[in-house]
Amino acid sequence: MRHLIDPLDFSVEEIDSLLALAGDIAADRTRYAGLCRGKKLATLFYEPSTRTRLSFEAAMLNLGGSVLGFSSADSSSAAKGESIADTIRVISCYADICAMRHPKEGAPLRAARYAGIPVINAGDGGHQHPTQTLTDLMTIRRRKGRLGNLTIGLCGDLKFGRTVHSLIKSLARYEGIRFLLISPEELRVPDYVINEILRPKGIPFEEVTSLEESMPQLDILYMTRVQKERFFNEEDYIRLKDTYILTPAKMSLGKPDMAVLHPLPRVNEITLEVDDDPRAAYFEQAQNGVYVRMALILTLLGLAPQQKEV
Ligand code: NCD
Repeated sequence: MRHLIDPLDFSVEEIDSLLALAGDIAADRTRYAGLCRGKKLATLFYEPSTRTRLSFEAAMLNLGGSVLGFSSADSSSAAKGESIADTIRVISCYADICAMRHPKEGAPLRAARYAGIPVINAGDGGHQHPTQTLTDLMTIRRRKGRLGNLTIGLCGDLKFGRTVHSLIKSLARYEGIRFLLISPEELRVPDYVINEILRPKGIPFEEVTSLEESMPQLDILYMTRVQKERFFNEEDYIRLKDTYILTPAKMSLGKPDMAVLHPLPRVNEITLEVDDDPRAAYFEQAQNGVYVRMALILTLLGLAPQQKEV
């Protein structure tokens, strides 16, 4: 049985075929409409979510399956003190596959050890968010036609942003990748990202503070929200939350074929005027999230039709 807990759980070849399947689904969703008939997806969300939970649900419904689950820890037996191990054993009797979001790093990994069904990590604390990464990769591939030979600027909360950690981990497997890590001092990427991923692989990266100076170099700009819920004190959050605000003036410094991604939700970090710029790719990214999750559910359930390599 396969799970998706870490972005590296799938090989580059497997990601290629998953993205090819997602692309096929995007081109003609109706062809996939009945493939999960009779199957159930459980969404176990111990932390708030809009996009991730609803896009998983939409994905399963699009495939003709059904969904069940909970959207906060208070409405599950966790509130009564049930362990993850017990919860997942029980859910395995009710559903065919599950997506779990949890504030504790490593919770979905623990669940996978006890599960009788595939477990998908839908975000664990400030750690990883592999399905957002699939969404990001699909968006980059569709916008730029490739996943290698790109200069990628990641901007904002690089410390607590799990989408950033997963995206760096994944992109580090492609040739010709260079990162500009744009953040305030206090919100730089965790040491392990540098010492265990970037340095050992010899990937060029710079840690910088200026978005303006970085703009002209970027093929992709990945904006992120300052992760309020992971701060220990409110004062620091208030001081740092508006460090970067992407405006049309800053966009004018970027390449004409740059793409701007954001995992959403956006707070203040991209002004609404930027939405009209053709380089803004974040709503398209949200749409791609449904296609990659459809492809992922089919793959983990062993129901994916044979795919040609892209
Ligand atoms: C992200 C997350 O939950 O980590 N949201 C999402 O899944 N699209 C990003 C965020 O909350 O800032």
